[in-house]
Amino acid sequence: MTPSGGPQVALAVTGCIAAYKAVEVLRALQRRGAEVRVAMTRSATEFVGPATFRALTGAPVMVGEFGDPLEPIPHIALAEWADLLLVAPCTANVAAKLAHGIADDLLTSAALACTCPVMVAPAMNVHMYEAAATQANLALLRQRGVAVLEADSGYLACGEVGAGRLPEPEAVAEAALALLRERTHARDLAGRSVLVTAGPTVEPIDAVRFVSNRSSGKMGYAVAEAALARGAEVTLVSGPVALEPPRGARVVPVATAVEMLAAAEAAFATADVAVCAAAVADLRPARPVARKLKKGADDAALATLELVENPDVLATLGRAKAPGQVVVGFAAETDDVVANAERKLAAKGADLMVANDVSEGRAFGRDENEATLVSATGAEPLPSMAKRALADAILDRAAAALGASSC
Ligand code: CTP
Repeated sequence: MTPSGGPQVALAVTGCIAAYKAVEVLRALQRRGAEVRVAMTRSATEFVGPATFRALTGAPVMVGEFGDPLEPIPHIALAEWADLLLVAPCTANVAAKLAHGIADDLLTSAALACTCPVMVAPAMNVHMYEAAATQANLALLRQRGVAVLEADSGYLACGEVGAGRLPEPEAVAEAALALLRERTHARDLAGRSVLVTAGPTVEPIDAVRFVSNRSSGKMGYAVAEAALARGAEVTLVSGPVALEPPRGARVVPVATAVEMLAAAEAAFATADVAVCAAAVADLRPARPVARKLKKGADDAALATLELVENPDVLATLGRAKAPGQVVVGFAAETDDVVANAERKLAAKGADLMVANDVSEGRAFGRDENEATLVSATGAEPLPSMAKRALADAILDRAAAALGASSC
């Protein structure tokens, strides 16, 4: 891992037309917080130059048999450095070599020396892809624990239509980092119980109108998904969102802040970690009515909405926290992001605040998020990354705090 906790990815680029897409794969990995180093086969350099990768990674690129010999034994140095080896695109030829342990250049030698998780993303002509030899090689790789990304179907550079396309670079990067998370975090939260609040709350004015907050629920759902992948039992207390709940989570659907508090308090009694990602409405109408208010007859009630303060779910859990329980909150801010998060950390009794700059619509509804983790030990700015990756970064800190408190 890099000092900021990002994964170190060795990107192996082999010689087919999809090699140009490896540049986009590299950028997608970097956007997700990864540090990337590149190895290329000699034939890959016919499609895209090493100078491009060198400029984008700021590191030497291993090419062919000897390449950029800055390291005395470059293929071993790369294999030891990498948390993940991603071969994208992977030709039929290189898949065959990897399956049979042939190490005749730096890339295939590094692959043979790697003890980290390996993913290959095959890209080739449809008949080459479907050939019995290729399929047998890919099956052999799978058998040995290599993750093989299914090629996409569509129009191929050779003019044929069928399976053999490299999936979209964003999808390749996402799949590679998901593999790494799955393999490295193993099940460090097995036997632990994690409570997540997510989505908005909806506070009724009458039968059709309500007061609410902007929230897609994506961040909370990503935390629930990540906690499940790490072996935790997850209770997801969720306001109304348009998301499929992660499989295996115990979902408690709620509408109002009062309902969310009741569900969260009940689950917190047996939880090790609470992550409060919900955008709880701070205020609710004092006297909601069950029928629909009508223009004319109810003008007075419609024109003046009396509001009362909602309970603070995070602060309530922060106050109720027993030794050994870890509470995480979010601070969505437009100004003085870190200072406000530090204030909320203390005021709400949280162990960690995930501070978000939400000015100019940042964060809301997006799949990526740029956050600063604020705790008693200081503020740690993280690069922009997928909400799922941020979820793991948050759970890394929570798992460490659990470990520290159980010592
Ligand atoms: N939160 C909560 N219950 C509330 C309000 C907020 O549980 N009634 C939690 C949120 O889930 C989040 C954290 O508190 O984890 C901070 O929410 P935020 O809206 O940023 O802060 P507020 O306390 O509402 O403060 P302000 O609106 O002044 O920024």
